[in-house]
Amino acid sequence: MIIKTAKSLLVASLIAFGAVATVSAATFNLAPLPYAADALAPVIDKETMQIHHGRHHQAYVNNLNAQVETFPELATLPLEAIMSRMSRYNSAVRNNGGGHYNHQLFWQIMAPPGQGGQPSVELHGAIKRDFGSLEALQTAFNQEAATRFGSGWAWLIVDKNNKLAVTSTANQDNPLMDVADVQGTPILALDVWEHAYYLQYQNKRGDYATAWWKLVNWHKVNELYGAATK
Ligand SMILES: [Fe+2]
Repeated sequence: MIIKTAKSLLVASLIAFGAVATVSAATFNLAPLPYAADALAPVIDKETMQIHHGRHHQAYVNNLNAQVETFPELATLPLEAIMSRMSRYNSAVRNNGGGHYNHQLFWQIMAPPGQGGQPSVELHGAIKRDFGSLEALQTAFNQEAATRFGSGWAWLIVDKNNKLAVTSTANQDNPLMDVADVQGTPILALDVWEHAYYLQYQNKRGDYATAWWKLVNWHKVNELYGAATK
């Protein structure tokens, strides 16, 4: 009886350990910003960056982690794979998984003013092919940002034919999601939620979108374009 109880305890503890290990491996984490919170000023102010990253993005991470118990496979899948099968999940995974993916990308595709470089020869060629010029791309992209009603994102994507396109999504949706109207691989993203700009720009979303191009980290965008068109 004692042996049986000990064995039961051992099995129970192994199961518990396994469960803990699975949850632990599944935990989504908030990476530090790749620059100081005030490094994007004067385009985006320090306080906006601190609140946006430390509170909003952190909340998406926490809320996504809370869904791992309901959907254990979230622990084992790359974030991109979760996006591509989003129709299987609930709105909490959609909003918070999207929020986590979108913000991770957003921090990376920005750099302090003057440090973002330029589009690569390959990407610049594709921009000219698909939009006519970089200025035309910026106009089309900013139009997406301006006309997305309510909260959402503007995107530059590589579609399944390796062509560039601009689009926008509502809330925390993104073009990787199987539920998105326009699908593709994001290489550039602009957060047009008010939390991204309201302290500095108030209701002038267009001014924010125009100024934001000074922050684009073309080094990272070039890398993403190369990976998407391999
Ligand atoms: Fe945001």
